[in-house]
Amino acid sequence: MCGIIGYMGNKQAMPVLLNGLARLEYRGYDSAGIALLEDGEIKVFKQAGRLANLQERLSGNGFSSTTGIGHTRWATHGRPTDYNAHPHSDCGGRFVVVHNGIIENYLELKKWLISEGHIFKSETDTEVLPHMMEHFYKGDLIPAVSMMIEKIRGSYAMVVLSTLEPDNLISVRKDSPLVIGLGDEENFFASDVPAFLHYTRNVHYLDDGEISLIASNRVEIFNEMGQGVSKPVHMINWEAEQAEKGGYDHFMLKEIHEQPASLKKTLSGRISEDGCRVDLQELSLDVDEIKKIKKIFITACGTAYHAGLVGKYAIESLARIPVEIDIASEFRYRNLVVEPDSLVVVISQSGETADSLAALRDSKKRGMPVIAITNVVGSSIAREADHVLYTWAGPEIAVASTKAYTAQLMSLYLLALYLANVRETIPEEESRQIILELLSLSSKAQLILDKKETILDIGLGYENCKSIFFIGRGLDYAVACEGSLKLKEISYIHAEAYAAGELKHGTLALIEKDVPVVTVATQPFLFEKTFSNIKEVKAREADVFALAMEGIGEVQKEASQVFYIPETHPLLTPVLSVIPLQLLAYYVSLARGCDVDKPRNLAKSVTVE
Ligand code: G6P
Repeated sequence: MCGIIGYMGNKQAMPVLLNGLARLEYRGYDSAGIALLEDGEIKVFKQAGRLANLQERLSGNGFSSTTGIGHTRWATHGRPTDYNAHPHSDCGGRFVVVHNGIIENYLELKKWLISEGHIFKSETDTEVLPHMMEHFYKGDLIPAVSMMIEKIRGSYAMVVLSTLEPDNLISVRKDSPLVIGLGDEENFFASDVPAFLHYTRNVHYLDDGEISLIASNRVEIFNEMGQGVSKPVHMINWEAEQAEKGGYDHFMLKEIHEQPASLKKTLSGRISEDGCRVDLQELSLDVDEIKKIKKIFITACGTAYHAGLVGKYAIESLARIPVEIDIASEFRYRNLVVEPDSLVVVISQSGETADSLAALRDSKKRGMPVIAITNVVGSSIAREADHVLYTWAGPEIAVASTKAYTAQLMSLYLLALYLANVRETIPEEESRQIILELLSLSSKAQLILDKKETILDIGLGYENCKSIFFIGRGLDYAVACEGSLKLKEISYIHAEAYAAGELKHGTLALIEKDVPVVTVATQPFLFEKTFSNIKEVKAREADVFALAMEGIGEVQKEASQVFYIPETHPLLTPVLSVIPLQLLAYYVSLARGCDVDKPRNLAKSVTVE
């Protein structure tokens, strides 16, 4: 999704803006642009395609400007072209705006502005903004921004640069992310902190409706009533290098390898000293409240939804609470039967996914408390939820989610155990055993990563496949869903997950020679059943790659390739069995020459419906 940066300080703005945009590339984009305030004029450079194209075009230009804004655009209204790229200007080139979000009533506003004599150059919704600034400006940018946002409907994070107030940059946000970076004689606006992490670690998170102003040596923030507000300064403790590739060829591979560390981190500080109970005081949930819970709704998108599938199993089996799970884009459009004492769990790596955020708001409107499981502190979902459980996976840059998924699984196990401990639905000894297993997942994940060459060999065999099926039962089916999503999103091979027992109701018709079937068979009590499914697809000449758990069955008797994950508690296998599937997707994508970290048509953070 779009990325924004704004800079005002004592450095040359152009490299700061281009570096910032490079750090925001992970959000997904199809064009990029910057605007610089130079000698009292605003110079705009923008271009469709990769940021590298823009960088190349600007290289050798020694602009002295120390003020500017930049943008990476992911097209929603209007094609990804040079003229639709941001920044957008008013008629006189005095107001220039970058925007992330959607102005829902832009057609009506555009019509009105055209009738007032404004001339539009793009097909975007955003272009109404600079023209409205031109219309409303009466000598002060802030009231003009206030008047503008009174007229617009939709979601936005925007930064305004104007020749009329060359010492200030103004921003406003609603339902789209924006943070302020506080530097020394320099300040930043950005969609996310990696954009300015090289320059400062001190940030202000902005709330919906807040208008802010940065100059090189001061920051002012105003609420919707126009009153000044003072906000806390948050210190970011990630290392700048964490947001970079750290020696790996791709962010995805780096993030796959970060899983042992992120699993450990997500677990740390959340286990009681005697190792028997999970302690999630950070959730600030009342014991009585927990005991009264009658139902849990889990909702999320994409990979986070697949983590939710595992969460349902874990909560139902440990805490004995019925769980319903929905894709967030479906959740709010169905006529939910809300019973008293229901709780909603929203899972989102970014904390900004539009559908997940809308599901959260809808749940709150229906009177249900919401727990957010998210990776981004200060994200919209984190701020609006009643309770937050952070996954401490660190910044995830590759579009295909890996370490965030396993950190989400870890968080869901912790939540399930915590609820079970409070509700006393499992004996203390069982709780202790599961906790011991949770603690060992990090080193077991490392054992799998140490054997990654095996997966590379299997991946090379899949390079030219047209279609691949993923099957499993129970928790293995949940992992099959994630494995198939990983493969399709980065290799563009058709991949489909199927509950193994359902194969004979249709999908078996598609199984033949040259259609590999990846079978996840880690669940001891379902092993015999899944083993029969392997025989079933082999009888149709499919090649089978099986993922099994050490010590369970002899899957190698039927499967042509087998990868054994280390033995663990059956409920926890997804954390381990997904890793070979992440690697498989990575190697197949690599072999096919795909853009591993930025798959076509996809975005890391989908902030529009
Ligand atoms: C996009 C990303 C996925 C992610 C999904 C949900 O589709 O490409 O990797 O799983 O959004 O994102 P969230 O940030 O809410 O977990």
